[in-house]
Amino acid sequence: MEKVNKILLLGSSGQIGSNLKKKLKLITKKVKILSKRELNLENLNSIKKVLDKIQPNLIINAAGYTKVDEAEKKKDKCFKINTLSTNEIAKWCYKNDCFLVHYSTVYIFDGKKKKPWKEGDKKKPKNFYGKTKLKGEVKIIKSKCNYLILRLNWIYNNHGENFPKKIIKKIKENKKIFLVNNQIGTPNHAGFISDISINIIKKVIIDKKNPKILNVSARGKANYYDFAKKIYEKLKNKYRDCSLTSINSEDYKKISSNKKTAERPLNSLLDITKLENFLKLKMPYWDDVLEKRINAIIKKYTK
Ligand SMILES: NC(=O)c1ccc[n+]([C@@H]2O[C@H](COP(=O)([O-])OP(=O)(O)OC[C@H]3O[C@@H](n4cnc5c(N)ncnc54)[C@H](OP(=O)(O)O)[C@@H]3O)[C@@H](O)[C@H]2O)c1
Repeated sequence: MEKVNKILLLGSSGQIGSNLKKKLKLITKKVKILSKRELNLENLNSIKKVLDKIQPNLIINAAGYTKVDEAEKKKDKCFKINTLSTNEIAKWCYKNDCFLVHYSTVYIFDGKKKKPWKEGDKKKPKNFYGKTKLKGEVKIIKSKCNYLILRLNWIYNNHGENFPKKIIKKIKENKKIFLVNNQIGTPNHAGFISDISINIIKKVIIDKKNPKILNVSARGKANYYDFAKKIYEKLKNKYRDCSLTSINSEDYKKISSNKKTAERPLNSLLDITKLENFLKLKMPYWDDVLEKRINAIIKKYTK
């Protein structure tokens, strides 16, 4: 890949994709955006045809089937989007000398390790979504295309369905909120992750050094109770009757109307040593990133 002259972004309406779209448009005119209507990844036969027409030499694939609970029921759809379409894209990239940047997840691990997950740790997904994402990664590697897989953990955003929005809604209703305390991860703002992604991609292209697989996350750890508490701290003066209670995932299942069907790993922390060494910089802590972004999110959902 000597020169990037056409970038194709997939999944541009999603949490990561919408932020990438904004940023890419600011730095280059060479971006082509395809919506699901223009390229539905479930139509596997259409992928090659569409890519042949566009002829990108960098594809950023931020598309995916991300409904972790629904995936347990809609298995065919999830497998098609997360595994089979990834395979088609990767095969096309190999044949056409196109660099593929693809997003994956910490859910490819079983969560049983006590420390953060390193890129090379043993993979053993606990749920169907994780299985299809892992198979997608394997397809990419087997295709022998030039790839970069960026693994993410807990993403939140300013819009769409997201954790801060759900919490703010409950706080406004002065509800008693129960939050799981035995699943840990790092809450990462989609805008922050998109900025880091672009830095990584630029560096791979300019320095011609490709780490191939990278965990991408801020520093630090939290459970859902910690995450919600940070949000509530900003609102507690206005909504005093709300209360936050921390419970474990088993008890949560018993009392929650939101019946989660997929199992989730207890430990979703990503080891970011490789990322920090590659970028030669230290990542900020997740709560410092949240501090910078939360006011905009609160403003939007408390209007
Ligand atoms: N969210 C997280 O916490 C998290 C954690 C780890 C890894 N990841 C990974 O990061 C990537 C981006 O995640 P995200 O949170 O930004 O996802 P998201 O908000 O759910 O967005 C998914 C994107 O994929 C598109 N898409 C879904 N089905 C499609 C289809 N059949 N054809 C074409 N496009 C389709 C969606 O388009 P429509 O809006 O039109 O449906 C949307 O643009 C995914 O690969 C995900 O597995 C996410």
